[in-house]
Amino acid sequence: MAPDRSGAQVLVASNRGPVSYAPREDGSLAARRGGGGLVSGLSAIGPDADAVWVCAALGDGDRQAVRQAHGGHLDPADTGGRRVRMLDIAPDVFAAAYNDVANSVLWFVHHLLYQTPFTPVFDERFRAHWAAYETYNTAFADALAQEAADGAAVLVQDYHLALVPGLLRERRPDLRIGHFSHTPWAPPDYFRLLPDDIAARLLRGILGGDRAAFLTERWAAAFADCCSAVLGAEVVRGGPEPVVRDAGHATRLGVHGLGADAEFLRRRSRAADVDERLAGLREQIGAGRKSIVRVDRTELSKNIVRGLLAYRRLLDTRPEWHGRVVHVAFAYPSRQDLAIYRDYTAQVRRVAEEINAAYGTADWRPVVLHVKDDFARSLAAYRLADVALVNPIRDGMNLVAKEVPVVSEAGCALVLSREAGAFAELGGDALVVNPYDVEATARALHEALAMPEGERAERTKRLAAAATALPPQQWFLAQLRALDEP
Ligand code: F6P
Repeated sequence: MAPDRSGAQVLVASNRGPVSYAPREDGSLAARRGGGGLVSGLSAIGPDADAVWVCAALGDGDRQAVRQAHGGHLDPADTGGRRVRMLDIAPDVFAAAYNDVANSVLWFVHHLLYQTPFTPVFDERFRAHWAAYETYNTAFADALAQEAADGAAVLVQDYHLALVPGLLRERRPDLRIGHFSHTPWAPPDYFRLLPDDIAARLLRGILGGDRAAFLTERWAAAFADCCSAVLGAEVVRGGPEPVVRDAGHATRLGVHGLGADAEFLRRRSRAADVDERLAGLREQIGAGRKSIVRVDRTELSKNIVRGLLAYRRLLDTRPEWHGRVVHVAFAYPSRQDLAIYRDYTAQVRRVAEEINAAYGTADWRPVVLHVKDDFARSLAAYRLADVALVNPIRDGMNLVAKEVPVVSEAGCALVLSREAGAFAELGGDALVVNPYDVEATARALHEALAMPEGERAERTKRLAAAATALPPQQWFLAQLRALDEP
């Protein structure tokens, strides 16, 4: 199909779109709008802006919606007026690209999750999955090439779409293309676990854009190091942004540390449904007890099990906390198509039950674990938290670490992994831990619980200021502006 040169001026591409569909019993479709940084960020350019969001159909409800939509453009009534084009990629191609390559390989590489004596194994099955990843990326590049006006700005999101900038450049050299990584980036020795040709293809895919951006300097530097080590590319520093030169093309590297949306969080966390959840949680915790709160997707990189082991160690070594503290752990379902995620969820439940069996009494439940996603309850937990535990093995940013100080009522001590991107901005006022060191994490939990109220409140103020330095709208506009620069 010929490109529509009257297309959009701004395009966003991401695997998960701003809306999803579930079939109702009567066969009609219920649309559910999602949240997150990208949705809030895009609101900065207003509902009337000439923008299109290209995303993939994730399940059967989405596929049905795409088939009912004209040219894959969803009904604006479902999207808050936004123009959204959803791609109905063949289910087997989508599953191989999303589950087998993006989430089982690229996610593992960037978060250092492999048990290397056993995994990864790159065999002919993996090659078939990789072919699907290429097909899926090509479908996005084709759609973007069709939707973009002359010289439009295209913001491509994340590891799912690493090949898109290069593929799109081949189709539309007139476009200004940026890629943003929401994950960490692996150091070269680990990135080189990937087959050599695929490692090079991923880097050159991103380098096909004018600019590649990251959440922290650390991840941008790791990307540059991989470009040197794998491609022999030249990295030129000294200008306003480092530049990677490879095969006659220059790509700038940028950093935009996505912050919390203070205005939204403060308003939403005072709503009636949050008040109601707050009362329920207070009852579960019990009067006069302190709380250690964590809120995560049940994601391998979030380190929930070691968090529970550290809490157990706190109870082992500090009997003064018995009956005086509750660990409120929200571990919401994620990527349940993957067996290793299901096993991880089971392990989280097991360890929580073991702690309750070992230490619980008739009126004290040491761990309150919830596994059903409930945003209002998460905000309620942020409001009452005495301590927030954010201890990922590795994390692009971790917005929970930024949201808790904004919403906290009386001030909250933050126990934070040095491997979270948020450490770069929040490390100074957090109690910083090595996420593998359960003993040290237990000590940090004790210190956090014992922190004097005045100090806790002062630290929380500074944490909230740092956490909201670049709210989603500013984060999004900064990327658009940077694409305009030569
Ligand atoms: O952290 C990277 C990221 O893409 C986030 O932007 C998002 O929260 C998450 O991973 C998405 O995971 P999924 O779409 O697989 O649930």
